[in-house]
Amino acid sequence: MEERIVSAEATELEEQSEQGLRPKRLADYIGQETVKHNLAVFMEAAKMREEALDHVLLYGPPGLGKTTLAAIIAAEMGGELRTTSGPAIERSGDLAAILTALEPGDVLFIDEIHRLNRTVEEVLYPAMEDFCLDIVIGKGPTARSVRLDLPPFTLVGATTRAGMLSSPLRDRFGVMARLEYYKPEELAQIVERSATVFQATLEPSAALELARRSRGTPRIANRLLRRVRDFAQVGGEAAISLERACSALEQLHVDPLGLDHIDDKLLKGMIEKFNGGPVGLETIAATIGEEAATIEEVYEPYLLQIGFIQRTPRGRIATPACYAHYGVEKRNG
Ligand code: ADE
Repeated sequence: MEERIVSAEATELEEQSEQGLRPKRLADYIGQETVKHNLAVFMEAAKMREEALDHVLLYGPPGLGKTTLAAIIAAEMGGELRTTSGPAIERSGDLAAILTALEPGDVLFIDEIHRLNRTVEEVLYPAMEDFCLDIVIGKGPTARSVRLDLPPFTLVGATTRAGMLSSPLRDRFGVMARLEYYKPEELAQIVERSATVFQATLEPSAALELARRSRGTPRIANRLLRRVRDFAQVGGEAAISLERACSALEQLHVDPLGLDHIDDKLLKGMIEKFNGGPVGLETIAATIGEEAATIEEVYEPYLLQIGFIQRTPRGRIATPACYAHYGVEKRNG
């Protein structure tokens, strides 16, 4: 898969640089109002009862702030955040080691929780439900099971694929919160806040332009801000203006809706080669030289979100909005 400036996935380097931009408290977290409001109530209630917060499942597209929210939950509840991920926990012993090191009130964050394997998952069930760990000692006929108590903790699971979670795992989360794409006004506030952290001056019109081209995703907005700031800096400009933002984004091949050359290739391919469809996913994949799964998981969600493509039983179709964006008329027949 090609590297894209509008990818919602974080590079490793980016994960570190994002740390400094993350709000530490719920009050500083912009957008996701319903999730924020509900979490505030549940956290307050748990604190009043002096209990750990119920386990929380955060789901939704990448780059919307699931890790940030997990860290905020830990901070608000006064516990430490322990971070791991589904693919990182290979054996049940790895998970047992993590669980037994927890302190009361800690938050265990498991990113990509849909990628836990079954045996590991089964260790998690009693841990989540009864705060205990069943360990088998020995092998064969003399093997016996001992039960260890764990401190009360909160599991925060994150996934981009809620549908891929097994139902026993899903059922053990008391709180399920779906994160939505952000509105441009919210993303503008986010980049304005980031610009302050960078000690850069960002004109409000430039903030809104960055926001509009960020595919509803804070991670993309902050990435575009970094690159646009580079252009302004090399240009010797004290503030990032709207003109500078637009010229830099053009240079980066990010169009006014946040589409890049890969989106163009996919959408124009559908229009030019298939008269806008319906065309099957596999056929699209073959024409643009990408895996069908990559198209489905990475490229398509935003194009569906902005209504440029639709999924139908007979395949994907390019919508009138998509045709209008490229200034193309649909051929008859
Ligand atoms: N950075 C990333 N996501 C954010 C959010 N929702 N609010 C503030 N800053 C952010």
